[in-house]
Amino acid sequence: MEKTLSWRDCPAWLSAMPGEVPAALASPREIAAWEVERFAESRGPGAPSFRFVSDEALGESYLLERNGDGAITVRGGETGILYGTYEALFDLICGSPLPQGVQSPVCELRMLDSWDNPDGSVERGYAGRSLWFEGGGFSYEPDRIRQLGRMLASAGINVLCLNNVNVGTAARALIGERLPETAELARILRPFGVRLMLSVDFSAPLFLRDPDPISGETRAPLTTADPLDGDVRRWWRDRAARVYRAIPDLAGFLVKADSEHRPGPNTYGRSHAQGANMLAGALAPYRGLLVWRAFVYNCMQDWRDTATDRPCAAYERYRPLDGQFADNVLLQVKNGPYDFQVREPVSPLLLGMERTRMALELQLTQEYTGHQIDLFAMPPLWRELFDTLGKGRVRAMAAVSNLGRDANWTGHPFAALNLYAYGRFAWDPDRSPEEEIRRWIRLSGYGRDEEALTELLLGCSRTYEKYTAPLGLCWMVNPGAHYGPSPWGYEFQAWGTYNRADRERVGIDRTAAGTGLLSQYPPALAARFEDPARCPDEYLLFFHRLPYLFRMRDGRTLIQRIYDDHFEGFEEALRMQRTVAGLHLPGRDRAEVEERMRKQLLNAREWRDVVNTFFHRLSGVPDEKGRKIYD
Ligand code: GCU
Repeated sequence: MEKTLSWRDCPAWLSAMPGEVPAALASPREIAAWEVERFAESRGPGAPSFRFVSDEALGESYLLERNGDGAITVRGGETGILYGTYEALFDLICGSPLPQGVQSPVCELRMLDSWDNPDGSVERGYAGRSLWFEGGGFSYEPDRIRQLGRMLASAGINVLCLNNVNVGTAARALIGERLPETAELARILRPFGVRLMLSVDFSAPLFLRDPDPISGETRAPLTTADPLDGDVRRWWRDRAARVYRAIPDLAGFLVKADSEHRPGPNTYGRSHAQGANMLAGALAPYRGLLVWRAFVYNCMQDWRDTATDRPCAAYERYRPLDGQFADNVLLQVKNGPYDFQVREPVSPLLLGMERTRMALELQLTQEYTGHQIDLFAMPPLWRELFDTLGKGRVRAMAAVSNLGRDANWTGHPFAALNLYAYGRFAWDPDRSPEEEIRRWIRLSGYGRDEEALTELLLGCSRTYEKYTAPLGLCWMVNPGAHYGPSPWGYEFQAWGTYNRADRERVGIDRTAAGTGLLSQYPPALAARFEDPARCPDEYLLFFHRLPYLFRMRDGRTLIQRIYDDHFEGFEEALRMQRTVAGLHLPGRDRAEVEERMRKQLLNAREWRDVVNTFFHRLSGVPDEKGRKIYD
């Protein structure tokens, strides 16, 4: 009988780092020493020796030096030594030179946001059930959590948000009766330099009525969650005190408020600054962060209303609040103004809040980008994003996790690249996608196929974009699930997500003459998008409403370009399949990768035919090349 694969068989990018961290190791330095020892054992006599020098002032930073005898000195603060050790070991494995000078993270917060629910489900999760929740509470293998800690630390990720931003009844208990269990998980991850963050429910004071662990008395819930109410403020201060007694190094709270039916300060006529600052005040004595999400829009829109434009919502709401947030508030903003679509311009909010601490939110879980069935490597898109944002703009990052209980952690084994590379870019957004992809390939034990795999991974997001999102049009996905095509799936819904395709034209005019989104951008950036004749093709229909026969810069009509992209996208997916078939994958990955590739091809075919047929039926314009479109 075939052996069922376990996570122990699937080391992700730790393929050259055997072993399991013993439970007894209690500090980053002990883990670093253990890693070095195991590495030396596995390499044999040729492995260099390591020397650790503690320099607390360095914190997470480190300095690597090669001594005359070939030994490596890792100088760093408590977690800096661990980060430096992983860097040095990975450099040795990959045959790369050690970095010169002190290495410091650009982003202080490098958070992984899991959307795990206590019942074990993972919202938008495509790699199995939760790694730590099941049946209403905690359920995990401590060994696996330690392996996770290792993975996160080796990628430079320092905070794990444990639960979904949509905080249900059971998750409220994480800061209530389940606090001791939450603290236990925090304890396991602490030696890896990974601190917990918790998503909290703004209306928690209305519900939580657990006994006070000190007095033992059960307090009745409050009747309001108004952030300016004295009892509410006290309630959160008490709660924070209890939480920090249990988890003194908790990174803070994460809040989704007044968004997609979640409660928030607006219920009480208060602003988001008032709501966030109240919670931030409760966390401040412990140096806790209050991360407030800016994913707020009208999700009950009437599709007949063409004046309201969802991508405008966040900037309209938060820009007037710039400067009003407390120092320990971070406003967490998704990379684009919509919602993690395949292609979106940068969110103008990320460029428009000069006096607010901001965190960039990315999505590793492939909600709109192929469910970890279709290949979608994100680093090339991040490069464009960081270049647009400009150096120094991003100082805190969060990314929605793509992890789950599947043996290989991420469903598609190659999806682990996005997690690894996210940590690397959060440490230094200036990195090169190609270098990171190559490094990940070598670390994951795929080095024999480095060239073929690098090419595949560098190009696959563009291929996915070609067979799905036409020229920056968003939301042509099947509603709810968000996999597979449905050009009008969201067209008559309340979510504010429309393409308004008709017989003559398609797209949304977001210039000053249209919804005005462009005016939210700094002028130089707005100028890049403003004129349809100069707007980059991939954003054309995001910003403009154009006739099908609009002539694009390359001379093709817009409709022809849509057809061409969709045919090409499918052809590219076919070529990808051939590449995948030729890879020398380890046995544990082969069937998984090939099966997912097979499904991707079906998906690509479906997208190609549905989108092309949709536009062909509407426009009546034939494909110039006479290819098969289904009427
Ligand atoms: C998307 C996603 C939801 C999620 C939301 C969020 O809309 O589909 O599942 O809750 O984003 O980011 O809060």
